[in-house]
Amino acid sequence: MAEERIDSINTRNTSVQATATYQRNIFTTREGIHQELGSNITNLLFVTQENSPIGSTLPFVYEKGLWKVSSKFYKSLPKKATFDRLTRCSVVGNSGSLLHSNCGKHIDEADFVYRCNAAPLKPFAADAGTKSSLTSFNPSIFGKRYKGIAKQSSLKKFVSDMQQYHGYLWGACFSGRSTLDLCMKAISGYNIKENVFVLAHPYHYKSFHDYWIRRGKKKLPSTGFYYASDALSRCNETHLYGFWPFPRAFDDISSYNVSYHYFEKLENEWKEPHAMNIEFSILVQLHLLGVVKIHNGKCE
Ligand code: CDP
Repeated sequence: MAEERIDSINTRNTSVQATATYQRNIFTTREGIHQELGSNITNLLFVTQENSPIGSTLPFVYEKGLWKVSSKFYKSLPKKATFDRLTRCSVVGNSGSLLHSNCGKHIDEADFVYRCNAAPLKPFAADAGTKSSLTSFNPSIFGKRYKGIAKQSSLKKFVSDMQQYHGYLWGACFSGRSTLDLCMKAISGYNIKENVFVLAHPYHYKSFHDYWIRRGKKKLPSTGFYYASDALSRCNETHLYGFWPFPRAFDDISSYNVSYHYFEKLENEWKEPHAMNIEFSILVQLHLLGVVKIHNGKCE
């Protein structure tokens, strides 16, 4: 009887129906992701011998063409990526809103900590913590911080800076052929014990991109949004910090300026390419639905 009434309201009132559908679509659970993307999705986070045998091909994300896995390339890969289900995960976004938050301890209490774009750790330990399980490395950083690793000295500096991270350093290298070449060059001089440099699996990124396209989100996911989605596929609890894609923030008393990144000052910093405000509105809905927890403001 109750269901009949809901049905008749829905068919009479399309806006109620639309809202209900949207809420159902956006509600993202581990089980839902596994059902839609396959339960193996968690093991596709990076390229391994297990998921990329010799002779198989991998697509580039922004370019046409395929990369064929040679035996030399295969030998450079980790054997497999098997992740147990995680209890609590922190995803650390790079917004300047993290400054003075005192959230470092809270962030590090998670079993698994995602970090974006090799943000420096020690100087921001109080606000952003230091634990790192998976840290993204966008190869554009080679150009910005390491002069394209053209010289041995910049390759050395890259390797030395990367020693601060633990777990996996996750290079988004399959954007195109020249980016992959640059990554391979960096990996060949990369011999440190603190972490493993892995190559982001293009199929994994594409799967999550398509997952959100099916829910009406058009632009490519930002790193933080993508990591939050990945966390939902493998963690019981997903906590988000440093997600505030706006130049001003508010506390109980006043409003104040927010830098785009907590660890650096950029020119034209608020010209961001990802439509993070749309992503943020999705994350807020997931927060209201109890699927993720966004931490903004000070941590106790
Ligand atoms: O690699 P990408 O340009 O996506 O990210 P980033 O600028 O290094 O920041 C990492 C992530 O933090 C972003 O992908 C966003 O999800 C989040 N972020 C935010 O919410 N607000 C900001 N002001 C900056 C970043």
